[in-house]
Amino acid sequence: MSSSFGPGKVILLGEHGVVYGHPALAAPLTVGVTATARPADGCRLVVPQGLPPVQAAQLEEAFGRAALQVGAPSVEVSLKSALPVSMGLGSSAAVAVALSRALLTASDQPASVAAVCKLAFGMEQVFHGKPSGVDHTTSARGELLRFRRAGTRVQVRAVKAKVPFGLVVVLLGQRPPTKATVAALRERQARWPTRYERLFAAMGKGVDEGVAAIESGDLEALGDVMNVNQGLLGALGLSSARIDGVVGLLRGAGAWGAKLTGAGGDGGALLALGPKPEALRRAMKRQGLQSFVTRIGT
Ligand code: MEV
Repeated sequence: MSSSFGPGKVILLGEHGVVYGHPALAAPLTVGVTATARPADGCRLVVPQGLPPVQAAQLEEAFGRAALQVGAPSVEVSLKSALPVSMGLGSSAAVAVALSRALLTASDQPASVAAVCKLAFGMEQVFHGKPSGVDHTTSARGELLRFRRAGTRVQVRAVKAKVPFGLVVVLLGQRPPTKATVAALRERQARWPTRYERLFAAMGKGVDEGVAAIESGDLEALGDVMNVNQGLLGALGLSSARIDGVVGLLRGAGAWGAKLTGAGGDGGALLALGPKPEALRRAMKRQGLQSFVTRIGT
């Protein structure tokens, strides 16, 4: 029996812009998905109980494709997740990375970052259509990174934080599937390409300002870029009154910056950065909202 892990992720800056060739900044979480492989008489996946039929079918298709690519080793693979699903925390990418590691190991192939990324990207395409790849790349590499995809060319750079910091992740609840939110934005972008490109480009510029802020230890500047990013996501129609309300509460409770993270829509997860992460957590608890602190640069 062997176990393989794929962490979840948070996008600090640049979600959606990254689908249009601009950079994003993302970090792995410590929580994620574990895939356990046991010897069996064929290659199969134990589909987690309670998964809606559409998601179960996608998972089986993704697993089947990946299994074939590595020669369908004789293992039965089961999954255990500590990540909330459909919340913008990269649960599908974590599943894809954990399964890729499990399948590569079971077929006696090196589970290198490159091999895991290649296999996991195929699975993410089954889940999301045309993902940028930032989610599974962050999960597979397990480090804070600046990610950019231009056509088929991927640029990845690890970002070193001068000062370690905590980000508060607030869970609002389930949100629409990433695929649907990305597709609806694609329709708006096709109607108004010039205006939307301007917003994506501003977001991409913010990513590089955020990277510079992290590398120089200027966390207030990072918070400010997060706020600007949230404004741009709102302008792109990706926020909601509920998200905006909680963002306002976080800023009122002392956050330097607060924004949605991931695909957005309504619900999902929010990120906040401030001098006292625990105070932000308590403020969320008073609103009946669940949150946790993830550490960056430690
Ligand atoms: C989803 O976690 C991030 C998006 O930018 C989609 C993608 O990058 O494929 C919304």
